[in-house]
Amino acid sequence: MTKRVFSAFKPTGRLTLGNLLGAIMPAVRLQDEADCVHAVADLHALTIRHDPERLRARTREAATLLLACGLDRSLVYVQSRVPAHTELAYLLESTAHFGEMRRMIQFREKSARQEEVRLSLLTYPALMAADILLHRADAVPVGEDQRQHVELTRDLALRFNRLYGEVFTVPEAVRPRVAARVMDLSAPTSKMGKSDGSSAGTIYLLDPPADLGRKVMRAVTDSGTEVAYDPEGKPGVSNLLTVLAACSDRPVESLSYGSYGALKRDTAEAVAETLRPVQERYAELSADQAELSRVLEGGAALAAERVGGLLAEAREAIGLA
Ligand code: TYM
Repeated sequence: MTKRVFSAFKPTGRLTLGNLLGAIMPAVRLQDEADCVHAVADLHALTIRHDPERLRARTREAATLLLACGLDRSLVYVQSRVPAHTELAYLLESTAHFGEMRRMIQFREKSARQEEVRLSLLTYPALMAADILLHRADAVPVGEDQRQHVELTRDLALRFNRLYGEVFTVPEAVRPRVAARVMDLSAPTSKMGKSDGSSAGTIYLLDPPADLGRKVMRAVTDSGTEVAYDPEGKPGVSNLLTVLAACSDRPVESLSYGSYGALKRDTAEAVAETLRPVQERYAELSADQAELSRVLEGGAALAAERVGGLLAEAREAIGLA
């Protein structure tokens, strides 16, 4: 049977090189062998303080970018346009336990940084599980930071199946070959994140070419001069090697450099070459907003149609009239 792939992207900020290398590029490759569905997870963006207008704009931008990055042979839609996601999420909240939700690393980290923690930040992995399970996905391309949530999805699927009957397909996370965790260029011990505002260490997919080069050239490197892949001892250099390997589709081991400067120059060029076609395609797609709306509405309608059966099965199994 054809493999089914699902993945999603949360429009809390602009999409980054981390999103591209960790999840979008692996998903683009999977299109040749699988039936692929991708969503912009706008409901997930409500888990932290947000601005409604900005969310709407970021959602559309993210959807356009997914298509521009090459996911144009996948079904792409905006999560909130398909109400089955929230309905199944409630059934999964009623399958999950408070203790396991509270233990999620992302919840612990993000809640520790805020005074007012939205309840949806705690329950969000149940919504993510619903996203995946609704599509009976076998494979979920994600970066390292989302693996724990995919593990939880597996646990919830198995528990539900055991308690109420075999309804869900148990999915597996798909790791990228390299770049499962792209680090911030100016703080290479932290993940490159997409929080809004311009960070010197984050490369956004829509950064103007001049900014891309500048950000890479200013990346923090490590003491010493030797270019070696050693994420613990040389996080800055290792991150650049990872980015270069992923952007040029070569293994990290094949890269050999005599100086940090040369490594940075080649990395800057590889990033620019990777993003140039994405930005060109983004400009083309954005020029026809009516067509974009048609694609996204069509995607949502098709997704709703596809997931209806699974939702009905889950409702029936759990005992809803
Ligand atoms: P989000 O929006 O934070 O990230 C989207 C995808 O990009 C990956 N990623 C990275 N990979 C490598 N290096 C980085 N620095 C980096 N930053 C982000 C993430 O691992 C992810 O694969 N909850 C999810 C969105 C979501 C989802 C889903 C994902 C909602 N429903 C169902 C998969 C399946 C999230 O916040 O990802």
